Amino acid sequence: MKVVSIVGARPQFIKAAAVSRKLRQHHEEILVHTGQHYDYEMSGIFFDGLELPKPNASLEIGSGSHGAQTGAMLKAVEGVLLAECPDYVLVYGDTNSTLAGALAAAKLSIPIAHVEAGLRSFNRRMPEEINRMLADHLSNLLLCPSDTAVSNLANEGISQNVHLVGDVMLDVLNWAKQHPDPNRAGIIERLGIRKHGYLLATVHRSENTDDLEQLSRILRAFNSIGEQVVFPVHPRSRKMMVEMGFQPKSHVCLIDPVGYLDMVELIGSARLVLTDSGGLQKEAYWLGIPCLTLRNETEWVETVEVGWNVLVGSNPDKIVDAVGSFSPPASHPALYGDGAAADKCVDLFEGRLGSAKKAEYAKSTQ
Ligand code: UD1
Ligand code: UDP
Repeated sequence: MKVVSIVGARPQFIKAAAVSRKLRQHHEEILVHTGQHYDYEMSGIFFDGLELPKPNASLEIGSGSHGAQTGAMLKAVEGVLLAECPDYVLVYGDTNSTLAGALAAAKLSIPIAHVEAGLRSFNRRMPEEINRMLADHLSNLLLCPSDTAVSNLANEGISQNVHLVGDVMLDVLNWAKQHPDPNRAGIIERLGIRKHGYLLATVHRSENTDDLEQLSRILRAFNSIGEQVVFPVHPRSRKMMVEMGFQPKSHVCLIDPVGYLDMVELIGSARLVLTDSGGLQKEAYWLGIPCLTLRNETEWVETVEVGWNVLVGSNPDKIVDAVGSFSPPASHPALYGDGAAADKCVDLFEGRLGSAKKAEYAKSTQ
């Protein structure tokens, strides 16, 4: 089988690392990088750190308005698909690269598999919500990380070819735990911080960064917290922080975005995570670290339901209060599968699943 995989943004390189490794054992994969993320710390570092193969095609689209960026990607991906004639196109998550890849394939009648299908925030002001809804409705194989995702699709009338496979990010996390970088000291040592003696923060969502007042509320909260805050800053947020002249207090440690292995160490050694990232909410949970989510809703509702994640929005008082008082329950049930989601995705591509396994993956759709 020949599969064209479309990636472009940081979380997609991470997800692709799990699936690509399995896919390439038996199939031909053409990895297409749209260029949506291009700084070394946002792109190359993940190819190096996760042993992800170099892209077969780099489209170098880069930053732009939603229409300009998505339109340029649509045109360029179409060119690759016409040249490669794949059996499947594989898209991940909910970025503009996801939508462009799915749309280009759908218009050429090439079957599409969507990894991380079915997630919904029910907030259509998020560009990600538009991307994920459209990608799901165009896809032929919907690979869901949770029962909730399966139900969300059913509520929109999608019940054929929907499979509960678990989350490929758990596969990557397990891989990372077994592959520490032997060539350098861990990031905790490099930064000179104390294990479980700091909060880890990330902020990059458009709803939190495009509006300077919203971002400044969150940054005010960080400045008011009486504990060390380690904050790897996404370039989008960095730009806005420069524009507003943000002055971090001495306990707020701003660093460049870090590679995946460093991030896993930073999350796992934090006392608490403060984030608006989708990926971090789950990784904090899997690593047993409580999380405060700087949003009013989440697609990863299970982490909230089990009591390890609290939605605190951008209100500084609420954030500071929660930092001081939040304590998760003792119970920590397994969420989002068993860490073998990529195997299931590849089995499903091949249509080689035995009937027992098919019934197991499909059980939540009935
Ligand atoms: C994108 C995704 C978002 C995902 C995030 C992961 C969309 C609509 N959004 O958001 O769902 O959570 O990636 O990180 O696809 N920039 C750089 N260097 C880079 C990349 C970006 O400087 O390598 C700056 C540019 O100023 C750019 C801005 O960041 O305009 C935003 O980048 P963009 O890719 O449009 O969106 P993200 O906020 O990264
Ligand atoms: N991540 C990373 N370095 C960073 C910030 C994030 O490796 O400096 C990882 C993080 O651990 C997770 C993924 O990137 O695996 C999440 O990406 P991001 O927060 O950019 O996007 P989202 O998940 O919100 O779409």
